[in-house]
Amino acid sequence: MFTIVPQPVEVRSLEGESAHITSATRLVTGTGGAELELGVVLAGILGTLVGQAISLVQSDDPDEAPQPGDIVMRIDEATGPAGSTSDERYTLESRDGAVVVSAPAYAGVVRGVATLGQLLSPTSTGGFVVPPVRVVDAPRYPWRGLSLDVARHFFGVDDIKRVIALMTRYKLNVLHLHLSDDQGWRLEIPSRPELTARASGSSVGGGPGGFFTVAEFDEIQRFAQARAITVVPEIDIPGHTNAALQAYAELNPDGVAKDAYTGIEVGFSTLDASLPATKDFLRDVFGDLASMTQGPWVHLGGDEAHGTEREDYETIVSFAADVLRDAGKVPVGWQEFAASPSSAGGIVQLWHMELELEPVAAAARAGAQVVLSPGNRVYLDMKYHEGYPLGLDWAGHVELRDSYDWEPTEAVPGLDPEAIVGIEAAVWTETLTNLDELSTMLLPRLTAVAEVAWTARELRDWDSYARRIAGQAWRWERNGLSWHRSPGVDWAE
Ligand code: ACM
Repeated sequence: MFTIVPQPVEVRSLEGESAHITSATRLVTGTGGAELELGVVLAGILGTLVGQAISLVQSDDPDEAPQPGDIVMRIDEATGPAGSTSDERYTLESRDGAVVVSAPAYAGVVRGVATLGQLLSPTSTGGFVVPPVRVVDAPRYPWRGLSLDVARHFFGVDDIKRVIALMTRYKLNVLHLHLSDDQGWRLEIPSRPELTARASGSSVGGGPGGFFTVAEFDEIQRFAQARAITVVPEIDIPGHTNAALQAYAELNPDGVAKDAYTGIEVGFSTLDASLPATKDFLRDVFGDLASMTQGPWVHLGGDEAHGTEREDYETIVSFAADVLRDAGKVPVGWQEFAASPSSAGGIVQLWHMELELEPVAAAARAGAQVVLSPGNRVYLDMKYHEGYPLGLDWAGHVELRDSYDWEPTEAVPGLDPEAIVGIEAAVWTETLTNLDELSTMLLPRLTAVAEVAWTARELRDWDSYARRIAGQAWRWERNGLSWHRSPGVDWAE
């Protein structure tokens, strides 16, 4: 039985030899410059997976038979399931002692390597073995994300890289970073230096805070891009803005800068549409953010603006969306953004099942795409059960099976299924202060969300998933990642 998560489109055992990955294993790629680049990155990823350096060899003969122990990467259009046009499709074959991963594009090779990582099992001699198998695979949804709040508590570059590496294993491809909130501003904005100078040094409970410099943000994006993951930065407006109001006094109607906020209430802060300083601020911040962002999307928040008049909300949000569009980016906003005409052509992110859902379906009819993050399913900061020491419970308790057993196309009545671009887990960090706590909330639930996003409805099955996920825990432990023993899974002792 193969324990691949998320479940691929097709997995079939083959006859014959297993592949032995040892210190003699070579990673073989084509000779193009892009393939060399791919090879260098993949040798690094693979080396980390198996815990030893992998040597890279370029071959210009695509028909050359692999030597036993080789791992061959090929760019090939004719791969993956029939009918799939996804760049992330791939075919993996372990046969006659060698492994061949072929895909039409870099992203697909990375997904195939993730599958390879899950097929590897350690041998008593310190190597790894891959059974003879053929996997033909492609994702259901193109957006498979994780949203991480680094505002309530700050997580630095090393922690973010650990999270990205975890996402890579489960074929997630969007890392959404919530970079500003009442409690702190977490990204250097060159035209607005006071944001980080004055409003980054604290967090929930009064801890030290922190922020990413432009160079660090770039480093995160490059690390993600090498794993075919796009970073979507979020600056939340017009609510959740106490940190901005703390940094720039002129954003406040009384001209007095706010104090740092270290609590966990929401909905009390707002930008003011009537102040000239507000538009200057939005132009500077979203302009800089757009130019610092490698991917096509920038998130403008838009949630829980309880202190903002309806008309002012529209003025502020549509202005920011226009700044982003003028800079060539697609605006993304939380569910409340659906009510703004400026969401047409953008992306609306569902999060609260008790807010009105009809505006989301209406925004989709007007041309918006939709990312689904229903709080009662994929908010991974919700407690697993009553009395759980970490997390909140406003959207209920979310056990592993809750994150697994739901169907995206049934989440929002009247929503055109074609408008759904994907699924995104979210983890808010009011109660999470370090990587151990964060990873305990992510694992195992993040893998369930990954399967909902990757695997077609007809191939998903809780019992099968529960068996496969039980075979993953040793990998988390090997990587020093804390996890929660969810019930309903026969975890190995
Ligand atoms: C949210 O959880 N306020 C988007």
